[in-house]
Amino acid sequence: MFIHIVGARPNFPKVKPLMEEMKKNSISQKLLHTGQHYDYLMSKVFFNELDIPVPDFHLDEYLGKTHAEQTGNIMIELEKVFDSLKPKGVIVYGDINSTLSAALVATKLHIPVIHIESGCRSFDKKMPEEINRIVVDHISNYLFCTDSYSVKNLIKEGVTENVYLSGNLMIDTLKTLSLDDNPSGEVLLTLHRPSNVDDTSKLFRILGDIDSLGTRVIFPAHPRVKKIIDNKKFDNIKTVEPMSYKEFISNLNNCKYAISDSGGIQCEASVLNTPLITLRDTTEHQDTILFGTNTLCSDSSEIKNMKLKKSNYSPKIWDGNSAKRIVEVLKTI
Ligand code: UD1
Repeated sequence: MFIHIVGARPNFPKVKPLMEEMKKNSISQKLLHTGQHYDYLMSKVFFNELDIPVPDFHLDEYLGKTHAEQTGNIMIELEKVFDSLKPKGVIVYGDINSTLSAALVATKLHIPVIHIESGCRSFDKKMPEEINRIVVDHISNYLFCTDSYSVKNLIKEGVTENVYLSGNLMIDTLKTLSLDDNPSGEVLLTLHRPSNVDDTSKLFRILGDIDSLGTRVIFPAHPRVKKIIDNKKFDNIKTVEPMSYKEFISNLNNCKYAISDSGGIQCEASVLNTPLITLRDTTEHQDTILFGTNTLCSDSSEIKNMKLKKSNYSPKIWDGNSAKRIVEVLKTI
């Protein structure tokens, strides 16, 4: 039996197609939710909308606030579960703290670690996710990459065994959605990276620059960011609750352009041909800069001068069959 470990919003659209394909192939599996994201709008709404099975295990412990508390507490709980279940493999997704915790526990118990979305590198070690990616890739036994840049990154680091170019599970899910088709003419905004939101004065400077663009902006705010900006009123920015996956992707498809600091949105915007300004210095999705609609911007006062890119970027390998390719390998474990 394999066990999938998920914890935060970006994991949910990725686990869905893989669980479905494993079920079709009668591969025994369990699902564990670490509870890293616990608000209804950050978690359960995705399970309902995407029809993901109710997790077999949910860690109900308080995970703590700091990275060490979160990573450590998840490790302590996962060790008990893996010890009693003795899974054939632990499947981890992306770069969140839950991914790191699960990979560390599994590898020390000599359980194969299967990493989905391996090889992404922003080359910015100040990002907590970059540390998680590097560590997880170096202790994983099976590494599935979304694009050829990721494969090359792994080769450069000497990771060459059991590396597969499998495609992008999140785009597989995106392609199954029936999207609403009424262009809003608005700008879609998301912000949650520590580098943009942890320093309150920087956050308000960014929001001030975006507000002064003079276009209506819709801002589904992460609970952490919402707490900071709660009572602040903007002329053009409308803060709303986090959206469900379908609602968010429909908005991304219909907006004039998007501004964000997220990872996954870079791929989604490029596939939907929506121009995107990524408020970061670096990206782990270099292909979306070279071929897609993504542009990096490290100074929000420059947004007004930026050129918006259109480009129908959808690599052949993002064809809706990523789960099938991964399952062919899982069958051999
Ligand atoms: C996490 C991931 C990030 C991913 C993002 C998507 C890590 C290191 N980061 O960042 O890669 O892009 O999820 O959203 O794992 N909180 C709530 N409600 C929730 C979840 C969190 O209020 O449902 C608050 C809590 O106070 C928590 C804080 O937000 O301490 C940060 O949450 P956390 O999961 O640590 O990181 P994210 O910023 O969401």
